[in-house]
Amino acid sequence: MTKGQFPTDKFQQLQTPFYYYDTELLRKTLQTIQEEAGKHEGFVVHYAVKANANPLLLRIIRQAGFGADCVSGGEIEASLKAGFPASKIVYAGVGKSDWEINLGLDNDIFCFNVESIPELEVINELATKKDKVARVAFRLNPNVGAHTHANITTGLAENKFGIAMRDMMSVIEEATGMDHVKVVGLHFHIGSQILDMSDFEALCNRINELQNELERHRIIVEHINVGGGLGVDYQHPNRIPIPDFKAYFDTYAKKLKLRPGQTLHFELGRAVVAQCGSLITRTLYIKKGALKQFCIVDAGFTDLIRPALYQAYHKIENITSEEPVQVYDVVGPICESTDVFAKQIDLNGCRRGDLLAIRSAGAYGEIMASQYNCRRLPQGFTSDDI
Ligand code: LLP
Repeated sequence: MTKGQFPTDKFQQLQTPFYYYDTELLRKTLQTIQEEAGKHEGFVVHYAVKANANPLLLRIIRQAGFGADCVSGGEIEASLKAGFPASKIVYAGVGKSDWEINLGLDNDIFCFNVESIPELEVINELATKKDKVARVAFRLNPNVGAHTHANITTGLAENKFGIAMRDMMSVIEEATGMDHVKVVGLHFHIGSQILDMSDFEALCNRINELQNELERHRIIVEHINVGGGLGVDYQHPNRIPIPDFKAYFDTYAKKLKLRPGQTLHFELGRAVVAQCGSLITRTLYIKKGALKQFCIVDAGFTDLIRPALYQAYHKIENITSEEPVQVYDVVGPICESTDVFAKQIDLNGCRRGDLLAIRSAGAYGEIMASQYNCRRLPQGFTSDDI
């Protein structure tokens, strides 16, 4: 969706700030993913619900045939409500509480991605009480770095995630002795917003080594889950609205040696939904400071925290102005100096009432909203609904 394509007349009636999702782009993206993954035998794609759990989007993603990757009981509930079959739900997270594990057991989800021995013991204990057998995959920490922001890298030995590689064999042996868990897979995730395919190649190499070692012990798991992490082009949402899924899946097809019958699972979040969403905000005031000009808008970091939390760049457009370009700092109303969406950017001349689109905000935007300063949560609308 380029600047001229936003339905600004319809936007005038809505309370800002709000999220606007272009469902045509979402559907095209989903179709591209299914086509590219479908070229490789045994590739199965789950949507990482953490990126955006808006029910309108979840329904579309479920209809496209995706599974769901959840990290909390709340996400499992949201996925079930949106119609994802439990048999396509994976559940990860370093700190699963008892009610969340029980929810997964009661619904017979596809797999628990287990991150520690104490967690495995609790799952076995709770499954025993229900006389069920929980399907588990071990999340291993591959100690593979990723060229991305330090706050969103997860696969290094120093991170809290996963089981250390050296403990892999002992963990599997321990699980084999338990009656109410069945080891069905291995799980990995090295980080997010990764654009360099060599990071994924490094993960493939590590998994190949591991599988060789497992094979020496005559262990072959049903599936490998490589997590998510494919990034999007925040600089050019108009030029590159759909990430390069071909390069992504081809990398895995080329580099990862699957064993016969083994399936390869993915958990993509950002790459699925980022580009279809924009945060629409209204200009409240233009303030000329001593050194700069501020465009003060009605959205703040409570609505989109990525710039404040990760110094993330989001392209901003004034979608109701064709005035000559001026330079602005775009800031929100929250009483913190980190409440800044962009500094010293070019925008068509802004006036009170103008609508700005903060682009590529479909992933980790609406779902990370908070009510700090007693602010209202932003609503989400799709192009199907308005
Ligand atoms: N699987 C696991 C185990 C994960 O931890 C994550 C993301 C994903 C899959 C999905 O990753 P994706 O395909 O979206 O990169 N709030 C941050 C991103 C945090 C990602 C956390 N884990 C941001 O706004 O950049």
